[in-house]
Amino acid sequence: MPEKFRILVTRRLPVDVAARLDQDYDAVLNQDDNLYSSEALLEAASGKDALVVSSSDKLNADVLAAMPDTVRIIATVSVGYEHIDVEAATAHDIVVTNTPDVLTEATSDVGMLLLLAAARRAHEGQALIRENKWQGFAMDYNLGVDLMNKRLGVLGMGRIGRALAHRAAAFGMEIHYHNRSQLTPDLEAYAGNAVYHSDVDDFLSVCDFLSIHSPLTSETNKFLNAEHINLMPDGAIIVNTSRGGVVDDEALIAALKSGKLRAAGLDVFDGEPNINPGYLELPNVFMLPHIGSGTVETRNAMGFCAADNLDAVLAGKPALTPLT
Ligand code: 8YV
Repeated sequence: MPEKFRILVTRRLPVDVAARLDQDYDAVLNQDDNLYSSEALLEAASGKDALVVSSSDKLNADVLAAMPDTVRIIATVSVGYEHIDVEAATAHDIVVTNTPDVLTEATSDVGMLLLLAAARRAHEGQALIRENKWQGFAMDYNLGVDLMNKRLGVLGMGRIGRALAHRAAAFGMEIHYHNRSQLTPDLEAYAGNAVYHSDVDDFLSVCDFLSIHSPLTSETNKFLNAEHINLMPDGAIIVNTSRGGVVDDEALIAALKSGKLRAAGLDVFDGEPNINPGYLELPNVFMLPHIGSGTVETRNAMGFCAADNLDAVLAGKPALTPLT
């Protein structure tokens, strides 16, 4: 029997995915889910042919420069890849893959959940009941705002942005978007007949709601700052299922406090899980702990996508979802 390829998996995986990798490879799994430091990861990568990582593993140029030569592929179980210096990996002849497509629907479902929860003050309603303070019905109690007939601005019209736009259109929202380039007419039609704004200021001025879907890059870092928030209509609502770093937390918190913004729905945070404590004091923020892709089906599909990439690359075939 030929020797099995040796792989290192840095995080706990769904059991079926872990079982498959364990069967097909000489695998070091991490079902206890203890986080690897960079040093420990490099040590554990010694002699491995492949790594399966997640967004908690920071694979910057220095780490990649020290990566053992045996490593041929790094498969991240995430669609986002801001934690990997893809250029540096390419320079070291390492293929990098992510898990696009399989998490589009689950993540845009959470986008919808955040839009609804922020607009309808779900957090305040929950707190009232749980704290046993509900006095009963009143006409003017805990009023939110409609989604119907409101303008939703989608920042970053990739797969997840389009899926969110498609859903929001079914709730009667008018879709606008800003993206590096305009979509083809068929994709615009799918995304609720979305209207393209090449100019970001012009885009922000029509956002009654803003949903962030851009990856975190040096260009998008802290995009949603005080200046950009001020260009939005008063009482606008912000939703983020992308990366926390796209938001300037201090600016968002200040705008939610002053009433410039009505509410926010956030699934992702800069520095998570150590989030800016300012959010915890605000009643008008609905927060989730980064669960965009967190369904049984989707987490399995993400794991199997990473496994498929390993199978292909280690068999000398092209990766299925390469970033390099
Ligand atoms: C992941 C995500 O669960 O895929 C992404 O980019 O943000 C989440 O769906 C998380 O990053 C795990 O790696």
